[in-house]
Amino acid sequence: MEVIVQKTPEDMARAAAREVANVLNAKPNAVLGMATGSTPLGVYQELVKLHKRGELDFSHVTTFNLDEYVGLPITHPQSYHQFMHENFFRLVNIPAQNIHIPSGTTTNYPAFCAWYEQRIRECGGIDLQILGIGSDGHIAFNEPGSSLSSRTRLKTLAKQTIDDNARFFERREDVPIYAITMGVGTILEAREIILLANGAKKADAIAAAVEGPVTSMITASALQMHPSTRVYVDEPAASKLKMREYYDWIQEKMPGAPPA
Ligand code: GLP
Repeated sequence: MEVIVQKTPEDMARAAAREVANVLNAKPNAVLGMATGSTPLGVYQELVKLHKRGELDFSHVTTFNLDEYVGLPITHPQSYHQFMHENFFRLVNIPAQNIHIPSGTTTNYPAFCAWYEQRIRECGGIDLQILGIGSDGHIAFNEPGSSLSSRTRLKTLAKQTIDDNARFFERREDVPIYAITMGVGTILEAREIILLANGAKKADAIAAAVEGPVTSMITASALQMHPSTRVYVDEPAASKLKMREYYDWIQEKMPGAPPA
């Protein structure tokens, strides 16, 4: 894992967006794994800016979202379908048929989950997966105790996650109890992963994910097993990392192009 500490969430968003742009410039038909939550919002805003300036084309891009609440219609203001449409898809030029988001309203979850996994394979796998992290260390909706080889499936949300996400709903009772989510095993198959976190509320989760043991209690810690994950954090989210100085040293000494 490479840890990149940025001064502010805005710097973090710009750096992560640059990384997405690099992938798309090298492979215009890349498959992107998309995340919801407040953390990746800045990255989406940066990508939209690049697109509006004519510097980034999404016309050949395919996307797969990580998760969706079960029981919310796609038009519900808090559904992840709505979130992605409002904050990203309506603002760029990804063809509608290339966008995949798990269904929170299917009548047959096992069949839908198997189809979702198969679609990812048919599209050649995910080139770059964007991830946030829950305060309990989850990625997507892989709550503590999720198998580290889990695949897309229905998951019961932890009380902590329901509490955390209640701020987006009128009442806590309105937060769905179930979600459909890519599994940890599904996520680990992405070729590149960027994990984003900002704010002091994420400091414990980031320290556990990056420097703690690999454990299903902190599903983000499974990323330690992934060959190419970069962790973008702002100062407060980095505040509990013991090896902080070393991470900065690595960035400072990053070899540039070899001398000609
Ligand atoms: C939800 C999502 C996760 C996200 C997490 C953190 O649980 N399923 O993908 O990482 O929220 O959200 P935020 O970025 O708003 O803190």
